[in-house]
Amino acid sequence: MRECLIRGVEESDLPKVIRVEFWSFPYPFENEVLALLYIAWRRYFFVAECLGHVVGYIAGRSEGSWGHVVSIAVMPRWRGKGLGKALMLALEEAFAADGLINSYLEVAVWNRGAITLYKRLGYVIAGILRNYYPDGSDAYVMVKRLITYR
Ligand SMILES: CC(C)(COP(=O)(O)OP(=O)(O)OC[C@H]1O[C@@H](n2cnc3c(N)ncnc32)[C@H](O)[C@@H]1OP(=O)(O)O)[C@@H](O)C(=O)NCCC(=O)NCCS
Repeated sequence: MRECLIRGVEESDLPKVIRVEFWSFPYPFENEVLALLYIAWRRYFFVAECLGHVVGYIAGRSEGSWGHVVSIAVMPRWRGKGLGKALMLALEEAFAADGLINSYLEVAVWNRGAITLYKRLGYVIAGILRNYYPDGSDAYVMVKRLITYR
């Protein structure tokens, strides 16, 4: 999308990120969690900006040689335009640039849209976490190898 760009987060984006989170999840992260992700893992935190507004974000962190996609969300009216995929690719690129070998994430088993997105990007279901979410929903753990050696 010509009117959109993916860029690294800035501190002034945080109120907008909190808004995206609020409109995207039944149980949004506390503001403090997003602020902590910004403080600790800024290099794995990106936003989608369209027409000068932050309409999506992705936040990750690293655990050993693994990248963890902690959260991704796009404002409802901006979904289906490729922004989720672009945010995922930006984060994976940052993981790979730091030498991380694999990426993983959790996703509610009922979240078909997100699962489709991850499968299209090459993630496979590796396991299930029972009662993972506050409403008792189960989560799939999905994984992807980022770096392959010959
Ligand atoms: C999941 C989410 C981030 C996807 O963002 P998006 O910008 O709509 O995704 P994209 O437009 O980049 O879609 C990328 C691919 O995923 C598929 N996809 C995305 N949402 C889909 C849906 N609801 N149903 C079916 N396929 C979907 C698309 O077909 C697309 O594939 P294609 O490029 O081959 O056509 C967005 O729906 C969202 O914010 N949901 C609420 C928060 C959430 O559930 N986050 C994930 C938590 S694990």
